Amino acid sequence: MAQTGKNISHAAELLLEGKLVAIPTETVYGLAANALNEQAVLSVFEAKQRPFFDPLIIHVPDMESICKYAELKDERLLKLARSFWPGPLTLLLPRNESIPGIVTSGLDNVAVRIPDHPLTLELLKKVGVPLAAPSANPFGYVSPTTAAHVNDQLGSKIDYILDGGECKVGLESTIVGVEEGRVCVYRLGGLSVEDMEVQIGTVELRINNSGDPKAPGQLKSHYAPIKPLFLGDLEKLLKLKDNKKLAIICFGKLNFKSDMNTVYNLSEKASLQEAAINLFKFLRLADLSGAEEVIAQLLPDEGLGRAINDRLKRAACK
Ligand code: TXA
Ligand code: MG
Repeated sequence: MAQTGKNISHAAELLLEGKLVAIPTETVYGLAANALNEQAVLSVFEAKQRPFFDPLIIHVPDMESICKYAELKDERLLKLARSFWPGPLTLLLPRNESIPGIVTSGLDNVAVRIPDHPLTLELLKKVGVPLAAPSANPFGYVSPTTAAHVNDQLGSKIDYILDGGECKVGLESTIVGVEEGRVCVYRLGGLSVEDMEVQIGTVELRINNSGDPKAPGQLKSHYAPIKPLFLGDLEKLLKLKDNKKLAIICFGKLNFKSDMNTVYNLSEKASLQEAAINLFKFLRLADLSGAEEVIAQLLPDEGLGRAINDRLKRAACK
């Protein structure tokens, strides 16, 4: 078990010594290291058992800090940054020499984000270096949205967990960059496509589902719970699997009864925001439950529903 608390000075000291600290953000908890210290970044990959071809996001406290590490010049990206930072947005920006190649897996762009969490913003100001932080889960598993989730899986491998309570968005950041002059979304996340389009007009979706490791981070079998997860019409799945003990992940009003099984309703009032907050927590609970299999339904494919459906499809992919 890692020591857990709200001691920002202690977290900053550890990070400057090259140690690992789990940090709260509005999206999910991150496993942070000093991004300018190659050895520290290396230990992030080791703790997560993450392949080196999957690059890390760096976290900074404000827009002024970005120019030390990367170039934010594109007018549309600037507009997104000004509209949504601090918040669940990550921008892919041309990096300069100060960012070690291990952070970006040798790519010319670095992923940058200003997270929206008071403890982590204070920590970032205090450390004065960018923090490289992937989600604080073993590679391929569901992201953590509480300090306890981090402790359960990575507690023995990290030096401190900064406890900032439950994440208020619950889905990872939306990743955006510019390719061939077009603004492209590479990962759906906590900032909806609709909200971005209000600011900068149509964006292009380039969500990779190929499972090709050269397309960073968007490996198909990601967010995979250990128990088999099936997606579809819940009533049909229930009939098909009536001899099995199931965990059911659903959304909104239920039009069936299921006394035998454990039901996790992402949002009884059909709020996509509430569903986003609950998704990873419920996937974990379903995984830890006595159920043999998990069944889930897709949500409306709009707003945060798109990112939730993306995660459910990846979780179901075996
Ligand atoms: O909300 C989030 O983004 C959280 C919190 C902790 O900030 N972080 C997070 O990190 O989800 P991670 O490592 O689990 O996912 C980052 C994704 C990966 O898919 C990675 O491949 C992609 O970002 N990525 C990072 N740097 C990249 C780069 N230079 N070019 C393309 N993709 C990049
Ligand atoms: Mg992750």
